[in-house]
Amino acid sequence: MIAQKIKQAIRDIPDFPKPGVVFKDITPILKDAELCSVITDAFVEQLKGKHIDAVAGVESRGFLFGLTLANKLGVPFVPVRKAGKLPFAVKQKVYDLEYGTATIELHTDAFEPGARILIHDDLLATGGTVSAASELIQEMGGKVAGFTFVVGLGFLNGRERIASVSDNIIVLAE
Ligand code: PRP
Ligand code: ADE
Repeated sequence: MIAQKIKQAIRDIPDFPKPGVVFKDITPILKDAELCSVITDAFVEQLKGKHIDAVAGVESRGFLFGLTLANKLGVPFVPVRKAGKLPFAVKQKVYDLEYGTATIELHTDAFEPGARILIHDDLLATGGTVSAASELIQEMGGKVAGFTFVVGLGFLNGRERIASVSDNIIVLAE
């Protein structure tokens, strides 16, 4: 079962990047080419019948499967980047993380108004990052078509935080 395979591959690193946080290291997943394909295929399967115009992946770990997923779905990939990285005109949003604060940005021409955007990230913790991404996308005239995550930390209640944005929330391992 895919959830079990993902959980087995993830490495827990205690007290990283600061005391009290158990960091979920997904790099062992990336070393397993077959598991990477299984993950992308599982997203594609669960998204069947959904209208998606583009996939937005959040820097940096959201880029890993986000681009692969967009390619498989045959739609554009839109990078949601941390502040100061995108070279063209941007819109931005400040948000809170499990271990600090951050700012995300999108190019103003990332998608057309009314486009249905699937937000992808590797991991759902508090949901702060993808909430910020969804607010930014909506402020820019886009619609949130759903969310995909490889792994979710259920105890941080991220799912509840984003449930009002879309009921299409796919978490492969929770
Ligand atoms: C991690 C992870 C998600 C976010 C999840 O990213 O990749 O983007 O935190 O946390 P949340 O649900 O509480 O918002 P991080 O900001 O550590 O950046 P990275 O992907 O560059 O490592
Ligand atoms: N992003 C937010 N919390 C995290 C955690 N515990 N492990 C990995 N990435 C995270």
